[in-house]
Amino acid sequence: ADVTNVPAVVVGSGYGGAVAALRLGQAGIRTVMIEMGQLWNTAGSDGKIFCSTAAPDKRSMWFKTRTEAPLATFLWLDVVNKDIASYAGVLDRVHYDNMSVYVGRGVGGGSLVNGGMAVTPRQSYFAEQFPTVDASAMYNTYFPRARTMLGVNTIDSTWFESTEWYQFTRTSRKAAANTGLTTTFVPNVYDFGYMQQEAAGTATKSALAQEVIYGNNYGKKSLDKTYLAAALGTGNVTIHTLEKVKAVTRASDGSYVLSVDRIDTSGNVVESKQYSCTYLFLGGGSLGTTELLVRARDTGALPALNSSVGGGWSTNGNTMLGRANHIWDTTGANQSTMPVMGIDDWANTDNPVFAEIAPLPIGFETWVSLYLAITKNPQRASFTYDSASDAVKLGWTAAQSAVSVAMAKKLFDRINTANATIYRYDLFGSSSKVFADDFCYHPLGGCVLGQATDDYGRVKGYSKLYVTDGSLVPGNIGVNPFVTITALAERTMERVLAEDF
Ligand code: FDA
Repeated sequence: ADVTNVPAVVVGSGYGGAVAALRLGQAGIRTVMIEMGQLWNTAGSDGKIFCSTAAPDKRSMWFKTRTEAPLATFLWLDVVNKDIASYAGVLDRVHYDNMSVYVGRGVGGGSLVNGGMAVTPRQSYFAEQFPTVDASAMYNTYFPRARTMLGVNTIDSTWFESTEWYQFTRTSRKAAANTGLTTTFVPNVYDFGYMQQEAAGTATKSALAQEVIYGNNYGKKSLDKTYLAAALGTGNVTIHTLEKVKAVTRASDGSYVLSVDRIDTSGNVVESKQYSCTYLFLGGGSLGTTELLVRARDTGALPALNSSVGGGWSTNGNTMLGRANHIWDTTGANQSTMPVMGIDDWANTDNPVFAEIAPLPIGFETWVSLYLAITKNPQRASFTYDSASDAVKLGWTAAQSAVSVAMAKKLFDRINTANATIYRYDLFGSSSKVFADDFCYHPLGGCVLGQATDDYGRVKGYSKLYVTDGSLVPGNIGVNPFVTITALAERTMERVLAEDF
């Protein structure tokens, strides 16, 4: 096979990969970015690039024959999921034994499918999770840099208080206030000016048209509109799509050699190719990067990788749940898909939880308050390589999910007691399931900073090999993670470009 030689390769085009590509390109280094998903730039027959959650089609999911939405049922009816054609769609749900993980596929990674919540963690908790990182440099330099580049903005509070599109949030805020709990606005990368135009009827609806987990056609500043656009603008970066890195090894001259399968949108392998590079940046996300490195270590391709590779993984304590409101406490038929508020009980040392007030945008009144709770679950799991099946497995157990559920339940039992309300039993597939304990949106860890890597993401045991994504975060960061991932990548790139090139 032909070998393409380039100075630098970046694997993956999510947050970690996008920051690496921009800063390499600006430094004048020719860089190839390899992304297994598509470039989402072509409208389908409906004139839209992405489909909505209301009418999912093949564009919704990564090689599935049926959608796998987080809510399995509604009123116990299987109305939420639909049969679809298998295709290189934008949202993947990766199944491990006791945990399914949602990830984005395409140029922009998770930024294409996520809720856009752009939250900076509390400095004290960041310092607790990253004891060897200078927190003041993060909060003075890298977090602000990340927020500016990502296009973080906040909702106008007057509009928030009056619009029907956030009635669901105000109803949840009232229930929290009745419990004596604090709520806080959270910033977002969705353009709230655009959203107000949507509400006024002067712009095509996206967040107000049930678009989110299968992509947003308008309004959201996903990475293809921010970091990746700037990276391409340097003239030094190219992106190769529908190419999956299968394995990484090292040649005798110290360069890295990547084996790559190029696929078509039906999943057929149309070419097997190789890249060789001097500098290799891994931005495949917690799952993608960790899988590559665990496989490389345990198959002997990169034997000097240390035993921390694969460890320190968790779900950011994710648990989803719904509460049933009183009949007079409506949540509204019209709901924006972009969350703007959280219940902040993290300072409660007995049971730290940050719960995002999530929408249920299905177009009619449901009386449901939905939440994604981020709990301070201390449990961690490891990825291991199984040579018999040639697969990388995740050792997460149901008992570890139960820890997140117990913490979420403790908080929401208080809210239900204070409001004389109950949980919803019809949302997660079986009649007894109140807490979704089998999926997460926030996979974190696998190549933890300072353990599998040095304090700047340089992989231990090798030179010129770097991790820049969510696998650096030790399992939990207490808030939605992409701002932290972006800021850490900015810090890594500044150091690495100054010292290693
Ligand atoms: P990310 O997963 O973004 O990117 C990795 C990329 O690498 C992907 O494009 C993947 O296809 C590619 N890749 C992986 N392996 C590869 C290989 N072997 N070869 C080639 N390419 C490969 N966070 C937040 O802060 N606020 C929020 O509101 C939300 N909401 C949310 C909703 C939903 C539905 C999801 C799924 C996730 C969120 N998140 C979130 C989480 C957030 O999106 C996530 O933490 C980041 O995208 C992780 O960034 P990374 O750079 O680590 O990887």
